[in-house]
Amino acid sequence: MEIMKIFNKEKITNVVNNLLTKKSAKELLDRAKNSSLKKSLNAFDLFVIGIGAVVGTGILTIIGTAIQGGPESLGAGPAIIVSMVLAAIACVFSALCYSEIASIIPVSGSVYTYCYATLGEFLAWLVGWVLMLNYVIGNVTVASSWVGYLTQLLKGFSAHLPNFILNFPLWLRSDVRTIYHMCERYGLDAHDKMPYLFDKIPVAINLPAIILTILSTLILIRGIKESTRFASVMVGLNLFMILSFIFVGAFYVKPSNWVPFAPNGIEGILMGAFIIFFAYIGFDAVSTAAEETKNPQKDLPFAILGTLVFCTILYILVALVLTGIVPINQINPTAPISAALKLINKDFLAGFISIAAVCALASVFLICQLAATRILYAMSRDKFLPKVLRSIHKKYRTPHIMTIVVGLVIIVCALFMDLNISAQLCNYGTFTSFIAICVAVIILRKKEPNLKRPFKVPFVPLFPILGIISCMALMFFSLKQLTTSSIMFPLWILIGVGIYFGFSYKNLRS
Ligand code: ALA
Repeated sequence: MEIMKIFNKEKITNVVNNLLTKKSAKELLDRAKNSSLKKSLNAFDLFVIGIGAVVGTGILTIIGTAIQGGPESLGAGPAIIVSMVLAAIACVFSALCYSEIASIIPVSGSVYTYCYATLGEFLAWLVGWVLMLNYVIGNVTVASSWVGYLTQLLKGFSAHLPNFILNFPLWLRSDVRTIYHMCERYGLDAHDKMPYLFDKIPVAINLPAIILTILSTLILIRGIKESTRFASVMVGLNLFMILSFIFVGAFYVKPSNWVPFAPNGIEGILMGAFIIFFAYIGFDAVSTAAEETKNPQKDLPFAILGTLVFCTILYILVALVLTGIVPINQINPTAPISAALKLINKDFLAGFISIAAVCALASVFLICQLAATRILYAMSRDKFLPKVLRSIHKKYRTPHIMTIVVGLVIIVCALFMDLNISAQLCNYGTFTSFIAICVAVIILRKKEPNLKRPFKVPFVPLFPILGIISCMALMFFSLKQLTTSSIMFPLWILIGVGIYFGFSYKNLRS
């Protein structure tokens, strides 16, 4: 009898209808109209935005793991260049879909907002929740990468620095997994590298990463108006150092280092494509500028494809030089670019690259934390999250509580996640949002065929379907191989479902 009550058909239909509640495109458009954005961007501006958002930690750090392999992943070896092309292909269809939706619904909140208009409340929440893997967990990757380059930088000043900095214990500037991996690789005893609680639980705390998070949180609470401009200067610096690496390193390439080309065969190449996908993330930045573009139909595909082609060529050159000057097993997994330059005795350039990387990565960190708080703010405004999280600081007028919560989550995650796990989770988050956006384009074309679309994806539904297939293929291939992140990703989704049914569902209807 009780069971009959629970499975009451009417009740279930009601819940399902609620889960599918959508925000109308009109409602979102009205919200966007208030911002009346100026159409001032041309194709080149968009291209610069794209490069700025895309080039970063991936090519500076993650490339090391993609080539060499990590604790659970096979490396692609010099065949990473094939992986890079595969990752670029997986991006292109979704990036075009992003542009179509962004040109129709140019509002903040990114793919979360688009899903609210097309897939309904429940999936919108899930996509928003998964997006946090990009911006919050992705920042664990950025912080670890930042610490790697900071360490390289400090090593360059070894003659001038006090002993306690030079010999700063590894367990206070790294994480347990990285230390284990390092000990395994070099045949060291982990007990010599970190303390053990009760002789059983290893302890490692990445203090510099925690300090970076605290500083970024404080800056964001104070409010940063010029953040984006500051970030683009940093990105210019980033590009300059990567190009310097290519031009200087090219003279030291030994083609014999490129043999064997694909030491782990097709599996290594596919895993490399999944891992290096991180280096391509950031396209939504181009598409969200759709409404501010003078000629979106022409300029958006130009900027998206241009960014992809440019980054792929740039990345391939970096990979060729890196694998050409350093034998694969000697690639430094935490700061591969500057460590490679040290190996060929280009200490000055290595030092310059470390300084530029430390500055650029710090700004990437800040921007990602800012993005995370703004998306969560949008979700909290839509009543998915408690009201307290969207309270605004009286003096600085910033969402301070949300900013602190995001900072705390980064700190806690940095305690038990390494660079690779966090990048893998970030990739899963991005693949999921790419798939969602491809589905959203197909649905919106069917349901609202008459909406004004300043930019249209060519060959719908073929292109979105190719986007879905390529993202799913890479995602499922890696879910089968990577033990830790393939447990953590479903767990993250389960927590999201728990929060939705435990809090959001009722709160949305209160
Ligand atoms: N593509 C961005 C980076 O590599 C996320 O840092």
